[in-house]
Order: sequence, then C-alpha cells, then structure tokens
Amino acid sequence: MKPIFLIGFMGAGKTTLGKQLAKKLYAAFADTDQQICINNQTDTVAELIKKNGMDFFRAQEQVALHQVAKKNTVVATGGGAPCFFDNLEWMKKNGTVVYIELDKKTLFHRLKQSNLNERPLLAGKTDTELEQYIIQTLQDRRAYYEQAQIIFNPLKDKLEVLAKLLIDY
Ligand code: S3P
Repeated sequence: MKPIFLIGFMGAGKTTLGKQLAKKLYAAFADTDQQICINNQTDTVAELIKKNGMDFFRAQEQVALHQVAKKNTVVATGGGAPCFFDNLEWMKKNGTVVYIELDKKTLFHRLKQSNLNERPLLAGKTDTELEQYIIQTLQDRRAYYEQAQIIFNPLKDKLEVLAKLLIDY
C-alpha cells in the first residue's frame, strides 16, 4: 500500500484518526510534527518555531514529510503542510491524500478545548481572534485541502468506510 497522507486544519483530528486508521489497515503511523521534533532534538514544534522562525519550520516540515513517506504508513501532516512548496503535488504523486474535513464551528470548539499555548499559530488569541483566524485560514487553505484524492468528514462517515475505500484504492 502506498503511503496515506492525512491533511486538514489544526484540530481536525489527523493524529488521532491517523493512529486509528493505521491500526485498521495494519499499517505504521507517522506524524510530520513529531518527526520534525526528532530531527531537531526539540520537545515541541512550538519551541522550534519560537527559536528558528516559521520559514525554518516549513523547510523542516518538507524534509520530515519526505522522510516518513514510506509504504504501508499512515502519515498525519501538519495543517499547513499541503500549502507550501510542492508538498501537495508530491504527496498526491507518491501516495494517497485524504482531507479530514470539519466545519469551522466544530474546529473552533475542538481547538478551544485543546491547549492553545501548544499551538504557535493560535497562542494568546481571544475567542473572537480564534474564530477570525479559522475563518480566514480555512478560506485560504481550502483550495489546497480540496485537491485531496479523498475527502473524509468524521462527523458524517465512519472510519471503517474510509479504511475500506483505502484498501480498494
Ligand atoms: C500548523 C499546524 C500544526 C503545526 C504547526 C503549523 C499550521 O500541526 O504543524 O503549528 O500551519 O496549520 P497540526 O495541524 O497537527 O496541529
């Protein structure tokens, strides 16, 4: 099986769903953010971004993406990954890309429940700022996300359906 790349907004559940999907497909699981941390000997990407800036992070993200893209692997990518360099085209060429699609309201509630300080792009935002950021960024990124070969909405479909689709893909 070619690598499967999960793309989508922060808080969409790429990591959680990715782990569950990998289990169902008897595949390995990898996470680009985690690989970036390993490569740079840092605990969190937030720390790395603070120290080295966003451009450095995006370059590291591409390195990590290429590194973890192995066969029989489900890869959870960072929310911005498909929107930089040729990452999206590269993922589509070398594997199957699945967009984990959630509406802005659900994303807002899920992100509110998580620790925003661990998310460098969202740290310190008020509710209104967070809502605005989601609306604007989702609008900018949707054009990338929707180019995925498969679009999966976890509120509408069961993971089993996605797993089956991927087996036959
Ligand atoms: C980012 C999303 C994060 C992480 C970084 C940038 C983004 O990953 O890669 O903070 O640009 O949306 P998750 O989507 O896994 O939270």
